[in-house]
Amino acid sequence: MTSDAITTGPVAKAHRVAVSYTLNGDAVSCEVEARTLLVHHLREERNLTGTHVGCDTSQCGACAVHIDGRAVKSCTVLAAQVHGRDVTTIEGVRGPEPGCLHPVQEALGRKHGLQCGFCTPGIVMTALNLLESGEALTTEQAQHGLTGNICRCTGYQNIVEALVEVSESKKGATND
Ligand code: FES
Ligand code: FES
Repeated sequence: MTSDAITTGPVAKAHRVAVSYTLNGDAVSCEVEARTLLVHHLREERNLTGTHVGCDTSQCGACAVHIDGRAVKSCTVLAAQVHGRDVTTIEGVRGPEPGCLHPVQEALGRKHGLQCGFCTPGIVMTALNLLESGEALTTEQAQHGLTGNICRCTGYQNIVEALVEVSESKKGATND
């Protein structure tokens, strides 16, 4: 085949699909390319850049978002697959009062559980699932729960301490 045949041949049209879903509490209806990963859709088409891309091997967890309340690596999901689902990104995580950080975010900051912050949105989304039982976490449970999230800066200790502390205060509040 000559290069002419390549450049003048028919250009395949990208297959687009209609998607309707809830994003951080708002209804979204749009078309996406069938091959578009959710992480790229969120960052490039919805301008929600708090969800990060840290690898191309589905290992780092920087891209974690919630789909129907469960933390999922959004680089492993097609945007078309969230049709009818409820998606929450780090931008949708709220504190107890308007303008306040969520207690997990506050604890990560106070305990120095972040340095560059690149991993932090994914850590927060994973942590929210870990904490939802309302039970106090042991250090081992927090470490195990974070195995899908890679942090290149902190050595994890302060992240784990922050999560344990939040879980203990949640448990204390429940017992009051
Ligand atoms: Fe998704 Fe690393 S970018 S796991
Ligand atoms: Fe830099 Fe975790 S704070 S990667």
